[in-house]
Amino acid sequence: MDIEEIKKDFPLLVNSPITYLDSGATTQKPIQVINAVKEFYEKYNSNPHRGAYSLSVEATEVYENTRTKIANFINAKHSEEIIFTKNATEALNLIAYSYGLNNLKKDDEVVISIMEHHSNLVPWQKVTKTTGSKLNYMYINDEYEIPNEEIEKKITNKTKIVGIAHISNVLGTINNIKKIIKYAHKNGAIVIIDCSQSIAHMKIDVQELDADFIVFSGHKMLSPLGIGVLYGKSNILNKMTPFLMGGDMIEYVYEQETTFAPLPNKFEAGTQNVEGVVGLGAAIDYIENIGYNKIQELEKEIISYARQKLSKLDYIKLYLTPNEESHSAVISFNIIGIHPHDVASILDSQGVCIRSGNHCAQPLMRFLGIDSTCRASFYFYNTKEDVDKLIMALNKAYDMFKKYI
Ligand code: ALA
Repeated sequence: MDIEEIKKDFPLLVNSPITYLDSGATTQKPIQVINAVKEFYEKYNSNPHRGAYSLSVEATEVYENTRTKIANFINAKHSEEIIFTKNATEALNLIAYSYGLNNLKKDDEVVISIMEHHSNLVPWQKVTKTTGSKLNYMYINDEYEIPNEEIEKKITNKTKIVGIAHISNVLGTINNIKKIIKYAHKNGAIVIIDCSQSIAHMKIDVQELDADFIVFSGHKMLSPLGIGVLYGKSNILNKMTPFLMGGDMIEYVYEQETTFAPLPNKFEAGTQNVEGVVGLGAAIDYIENIGYNKIQELEKEIISYARQKLSKLDYIKLYLTPNEESHSAVISFNIIGIHPHDVASILDSQGVCIRSGNHCAQPLMRFLGIDSTCRASFYFYNTKEDVDKLIMALNKAYDMFKKYI
């Protein structure tokens, strides 16, 4: 399958002349995903787990089969270890409130990294403040990576929870999560991996990693918006109390007391985003059909090309590790002296879509001594031509603004 064939699967890319370089924010959706959602509404629409009639039973099957598909996709031992959430943010909040709040004690420590997205940072501020525990950070070096010594310095026997992005949504750095998980476990801490920026690009095997929790958002891996996944080891999830209360997460409800349903239902209160689940299932089929090897082969070529082209622009500052093997599909940069929002607007007038701002990572921005960046993020459907258009648009932006610098 070549790139031109693949691009035809994405109606928005076919129908619109844009150069889409914001897949880190959300990927475009292939027709197979769009059709799966349509088919659900045309053939199966009803509320899963709620009806004894055949249509509801079929909707339940579609919903639960997708849970099994996801469990296989990330190699979870049990399908009930897969909890559907709205997105990675909700999954992280679930862990913070249901696990963190009930397990952290005064003077315990939570360790995260300075490159965390606010969703893996703000909940930990709240929970550590409430429990009297401490929030510590692993910092990055000049190569935008967390050095091994920093991991070993910050994770100690006081650490009870480690939360880490597999890949930074700003820097594209691939963190050494194997080392972090191993080291945290040695010190008796549990580990949460935020796979939001990695699962679209590389195989995640939760058993091989031995992660206690992983989270991701479907919309960054070809599926519809509004669906996310929390994976947790069943022995940990079983001991946790639910985060949201309501319909379908209960066993018995009395006037003053309630007992909760077993996994996974106890964490899925209320009617769920079934179309999102269906779309996520189709997205997994799509990724497996192309294969991670092919995805990585296509991406590697584009990203190396983009790194090389961007590094030749002397008016640009790149926030990028020099080690290609620890860098993924996100490239942040600034045109020195020009605000990223101005750059993004000029690029937009050229049909080039990038993200600008703090990328929900204000502590990282402060650490880098800046308030925002431009960010181009790539996926396998991007081409060298897209990179060339980015470079042309950047040259234009620089030409327009250079007299004011
Ligand atoms: N978290 C998403 C991003 O990094 C929205 O763009």
